[in-house]
Amino acid sequence: MPDFLYVTCQIGAEPAVKAELARRWRAFRFAFSRPGFLTFKLPEEHGLTVDFDLESVFARAYGFSLGKAAADSEEALADSVWKLAGDRRVQRVHVWQRDRTEAGDHGYEPSITPEAIAMHRLLLERCPCKQSLGTEADDPLRPAKLHEKVLDCILVAPGEWWAGYHGVGPAASRYPGGMMALELPEDAVSRAWLKMEEGLRWSRLPMPNDARVAEIGSAPGGASQALLARGCEVIGIDPAEMAPEVLAHSRFRHVRKRSTQVRRREFRKIRWLTADMNVAPNYTLAAVEEIVTHPEVNIRGLLLTLKLPQWSLAKDVPAYLERIRSWGYNQVMARQLQHNRREICVAALQSPFRRKQAGKRDE
Ligand SMILES: C[S@@+](CC[C@H](N)C(=O)[O-])C[C@H]1O[C@@H](n2cnc3c(N)ncnc32)[C@H](O)[C@@H]1O
Repeated sequence: MPDFLYVTCQIGAEPAVKAELARRWRAFRFAFSRPGFLTFKLPEEHGLTVDFDLESVFARAYGFSLGKAAADSEEALADSVWKLAGDRRVQRVHVWQRDRTEAGDHGYEPSITPEAIAMHRLLLERCPCKQSLGTEADDPLRPAKLHEKVLDCILVAPGEWWAGYHGVGPAASRYPGGMMALELPEDAVSRAWLKMEEGLRWSRLPMPNDARVAEIGSAPGGASQALLARGCEVIGIDPAEMAPEVLAHSRFRHVRKRSTQVRRREFRKIRWLTADMNVAPNYTLAAVEEIVTHPEVNIRGLLLTLKLPQWSLAKDVPAYLERIRSWGYNQVMARQLQHNRREICVAALQSPFRRKQAGKRDE
């Protein structure tokens, strides 16, 4: 196995990635970075498998680094990437660009760019071992299959590409650069649709399509639209105005209040709760805690956005997750999603689900 690791992340999240890795992987040594791209030297005999879990919230994608390709032409860069891949047999090629600027800067959304798609095509054309590629390898956006081996090519700068290698695990490593090809529907009333859709797909929460969901911080309603489109029944809790088209939906109900003003009985039949409030993480956590720990409320799963108004709050993420576990959620995971700005998404699940009121069946 190669002895370097690469990580790509949001621009601005690099110190958070370094701090996470220093905590979890003490023997990794930071080697090189550009905004949104880092490499680390791994210890000898690291014993990591090709699909190991980095357990990082802020890494959007990672894998073993095979090194840098530098050349004047795209063809020469592509050939150099295949040379770095050596005799590794891969079923897929993932190509993406390092983020151009901070997420949200002048509306910037990290994504798979047309340039990355064109370079994917070029890499496939120049692949020296086409017979090992999978039948779906031609489609740059189709998620890879579990256990497939992937050649990664990160377009770090003009004339500078980096090659990497990873094995596909169950979630984000299926997508190039950890980025899903989601498009905001034309009728979406806010870009929160993207966050909700990505959060649901990434977390794979076992939320039934007809689930009853309470959404705290629902206005204007893009996230509600994503839930409603799946067939969910949504109670939107927000003192602000909802978009008229969301209000008009037969499975949507607006409770125009702050979460703290909502009577607990509103939550009695609710099993899933999401929150996306423009407040500090401890406020969001306190508001959610008050609801989920109430003796008459039985929430099975959570999907929360925690805002990080200052990057320095990244160091508190482990404590936030511990707090959520203390409410009885035994499966808790977090990720800075492609469509998150300076914030993270946390998914939490009680599995198996045990209702607090004795004698009641699971729903
Ligand atoms: C980022 S926006 C939510 C976007 C929304 N999820 C969507 O899909 O369009 C944050 C919302 O949190 C709401 N908010 C802030 N504090 C709140 C509280 N204590 N209870 C309920 N909503 C709150 C704000 O009114 C605002 O509409």
